[in-house]
Amino acid sequence: MNLQSSSGGQFPSTRMRRNRRTIWSRRMVRENTLTVDDLILPVFATEGRGVTEPVASMPGVNRYSTDRLVEFVATAAAAGIPAIAIFPATAAAAKTENGEEALNPQNLMCRSIRAIKEANLDVGIIADVALDPYTTHGQDGLVRDGDVVNDESLDMLAKQAVVQAAAGCDIIAPSDMMDGRIGFIRQALDRAGYQHVQIMSYAAKYASAFYGPFRDAVGSKGSLGKGDKRTYQMDPANSDEALREVALDIAEGTDMVMVKPGMPYLDIIRRVKEEFRVPTFAYQVSGEYAMLSAAAANGWLDGDAVMLESLMAFKRAGADGILTYFALRAAELMNPS
Ligand code: PBG
Repeated sequence: MNLQSSSGGQFPSTRMRRNRRTIWSRRMVRENTLTVDDLILPVFATEGRGVTEPVASMPGVNRYSTDRLVEFVATAAAAGIPAIAIFPATAAAAKTENGEEALNPQNLMCRSIRAIKEANLDVGIIADVALDPYTTHGQDGLVRDGDVVNDESLDMLAKQAVVQAAAGCDIIAPSDMMDGRIGFIRQALDRAGYQHVQIMSYAAKYASAFYGPFRDAVGSKGSLGKGDKRTYQMDPANSDEALREVALDIAEGTDMVMVKPGMPYLDIIRRVKEEFRVPTFAYQVSGEYAMLSAAAANGWLDGDAVMLESLMAFKRAGADGILTYFALRAAELMNPS
């Protein structure tokens, strides 16, 4: 069928602008919506008490000591944000070659999870699984003879997941990109009695330069130095490969998948959603936040407008939700109090 006849002919009988003339009409024909239910807020935890420490490359984003973090998360919960994702800025002294601190039930991540849980907020807690906040080399897995080794890392990652589940997190989010980790983690969680703990896998995570400001925020940039993560994170040139990654994670038992970074990878979100029809999340990463914020701070872009437009673009691409450092601001704009 040809599009012209199915839409009733052409100009002047067809005028695309007719539906756009009024606000109510634009609302009526709108195909996608963005609500606060779509937003997940990533937060940074740090040691101490009463600490709110700005992240230089992410204006408006702070690292919070546990007491302040609980207050910040309470604000997000009150704004209707369904879930937060915690990332710890581990003290340099606690980092080791093998990242043993990841398995310490008293580590910053676990203490943060417990403190938020104790506040009894109606908010899901997502805990990242990867070794980079805890290793002196800043890699997500164990390093042996210069290689990030896969199978030996799986054991650590599964244990890390169980420790975080024991601390009370609701969702485990493996961001390490080792092969087989989802199945390994699922089995470990189940054996330890955490069948109800969900998994959101960073299924298609690319080796991206857009993670720079995040590595500042958690203090892994110095550790990583000139190293990179190209032997496990995906090549930005690939797209079919993302579908294989997602298929494997689903087969291994993930409950939800994520594509990361966000805006430069909207095509991947679309393909994943169309192919698999599972809950699919996008991560608008630190570098994307930094870009939009820097241009807004210079007066080159309208910050709020480009932010909301970028979030809607994720929904249009097929995302069920978005991890974004703008979550709180977006929630405030959508539901002014
Ligand atoms: C670490 C991790 C990274 C991000 C989330 N978890 C960085 C990396 O892989 O180096 C990036 C988040 C962001 O840039 O906002 N496993």
